[in-house]
Amino acid sequence: IIEILSNLFRSIIVLTPQDLLPSLYLCLNRLGPSFLGLELGVGETVLMKAVAQATGRQLDKIKAEAQEKGDLGLVAESSRSNQRMMFTPPNLTVVGVFNKLTDIAKMTGNASMNKKIDIIKGLFVACRFSEARYIVRSLGGKLRIGLAEQSVLAALAQAVCLTPPGQEFPPKIVDAGKGQSSESRKAWIEEKAHILKQTYCELPNYDAIIPVILKEGIDELPKRCKLTPGVPLKPMLAHPTRGIGEVMKRFDEAAFTCEYKYDGERAQIHILESGEVHIYSRNQENNTSKYPDIISRIPKVKKPDVVSCIVDAEAVAWDQEKKQIQPFQVLTTRKRKDVDASEIKVQVCVYAFDLLYLNGESLVRQPLSKRRQLLKESFTEKEGEFVFACSIDSDNTDVIAEFLEQSIKDSCEGLMVKTLEKDATYEIAKRSHNWLKLKKDYLEGVGDTLDLVVIGAFLGKGKRTGTYGGFLLACYDEENEEYQSICKIGTGFKDEDLEQHFNFFKEHTLPKSRPYYRVDQSTEPDVWLDAVQVWEVKCADLSLSPVHKAAMGLVDPDKGISLRFPRFLRIRDDKKPEEATSGSQVGS
Ligand SMILES: *[C@@H]1O[C@H](CO)[C@@H](O)[C@H](O)[C@H]1NC(C)=O
Ligand SMILES: *[C@@H]1O[C@H](CO)[C@@H](O)[C@H](O)[C@H]1NC(C)=O
Repeated sequence: IIEILSNLFRSIIVLTPQDLLPSLYLCLNRLGPSFLGLELGVGETVLMKAVAQATGRQLDKIKAEAQEKGDLGLVAESSRSNQRMMFTPPNLTVVGVFNKLTDIAKMTGNASMNKKIDIIKGLFVACRFSEARYIVRSLGGKLRIGLAEQSVLAALAQAVCLTPPGQEFPPKIVDAGKGQSSESRKAWIEEKAHILKQTYCELPNYDAIIPVILKEGIDELPKRCKLTPGVPLKPMLAHPTRGIGEVMKRFDEAAFTCEYKYDGERAQIHILESGEVHIYSRNQENNTSKYPDIISRIPKVKKPDVVSCIVDAEAVAWDQEKKQIQPFQVLTTRKRKDVDASEIKVQVCVYAFDLLYLNGESLVRQPLSKRRQLLKESFTEKEGEFVFACSIDSDNTDVIAEFLEQSIKDSCEGLMVKTLEKDATYEIAKRSHNWLKLKKDYLEGVGDTLDLVVIGAFLGKGKRTGTYGGFLLACYDEENEEYQSICKIGTGFKDEDLEQHFNFFKEHTLPKSRPYYRVDQSTEPDVWLDAVQVWEVKCADLSLSPVHKAAMGLVDPDKGISLRFPRFLRIRDDKKPEEATSGSQVGS
């Protein structure tokens, strides 16, 4: 995939460099950086109407066929050929399609439906080959080409290495890797890819990155595309571990700290030089308007010499009377945007644990010990409003075990464990720089929880007849970009859960498995489901499995891993399917 995509990008760089940015977005099925909140996701009904009107077919026929094929894109593609036209419209262009998609995404309100349909019809009549399929899928927000963002970044780096941008036409250098040994070529491309990936973590905005790459090259990125208050960066995430023993082994001799793992929502708090405060989610969504209460308290807790900064924190529901943390579920009842401060019922407390930027300087290359010190020097605590995450620095197993237990008593999920000096920078693109999480389930003698994707369902029996009684779950393998089955699950569901799942998933059924679902014949579900939802699942243990495909080849050459006694905990709306627990995490 990377090879094919990088060759496409190389052609674009040579022939129409202005198409590079929109091409990238089209591959990713996005229209801009996440914080702009410009999303595709035109409803099925509107899309079907547009297909019907553009092709002159009846809506009922389109509906039935879409149901049967499980993919409106295929229906659009095959319907197109029925049509005859007086004159042939001009071929679609990358920029043209991208702009039309953007126009559609910007339209709001019920009155916009007919306008959307008109634009979609305009696109359809100009479609050739399989274009209709991918345009429909793009519009629906599900491109399904099995392309992960990391692969797109790798392909982009490879393309600009081999075919440097900015050459006169015809280009003198088409393959700058020619003559190099395959190892040195690979190492060279990987080094550049790392620069690109790190830049993207600090400034996840292709609108800013691509022009620099085209004009000045990858090496200039760290100078030109820096971490900036007001633009969310990718947050550092933690890997699950199975116990203190594993933590000790991984961190070996390195000094580390244990912090409470608060059960709330990640909040990146940006203080801009202008005095404005913005708050972003773990997915770089702009959630500023959700937290007027946090914003108004920042001047009170910030020291006067702090002009600009980025704080990494967790926003947690807080009971002001009892002075204690409330469960995550309470937080989810809070309005998600345009909150009026006077109407807030669920109070939140900010637990700050990291400082990534301070007064014009990025701190991501500083070790955690330094960042934490600066954080504590830059803010004062205020109970129930803004406090530092509770932590201890210890390498004593008993002390950590006790701290873990205390964290549970204090209504937390467990601990986050982070190195303080060695490999302790905030450079997400470096995979060795991991934070570890140690959850309470460990105390109960069971493994960690996993975030898994639902890819199939089994029809219910007895009192569950008419709904789904069980589901097939998968982890996501980044390396192979596939969903690998890991277990069947049928317990942990309340009746209303099952009803909710059935109603949700009946809109996401597929006529057959996907090419990127890795499932053994013996565990094939009754109904295949589109990989659209992530569940948090708890299990008693992991075991080698001749049937399931998770982490296949990592632990055993022929066997995968499955979960024993999996139980459903909750839906993880904040995670995309590609952010599910990975095959390599299961394997380790
Ligand atoms: C996020 O929202 C705030 C106010 O709602 C706005 O001022 C800010 O510019 C937005 N950030 C970005 C990056 O668009
Ligand atoms: C953050 O804001 C976006 C855009 O308003 C919204 O869709 C999303 O649900 C919010 N996230 C949370 C966790 O509230």
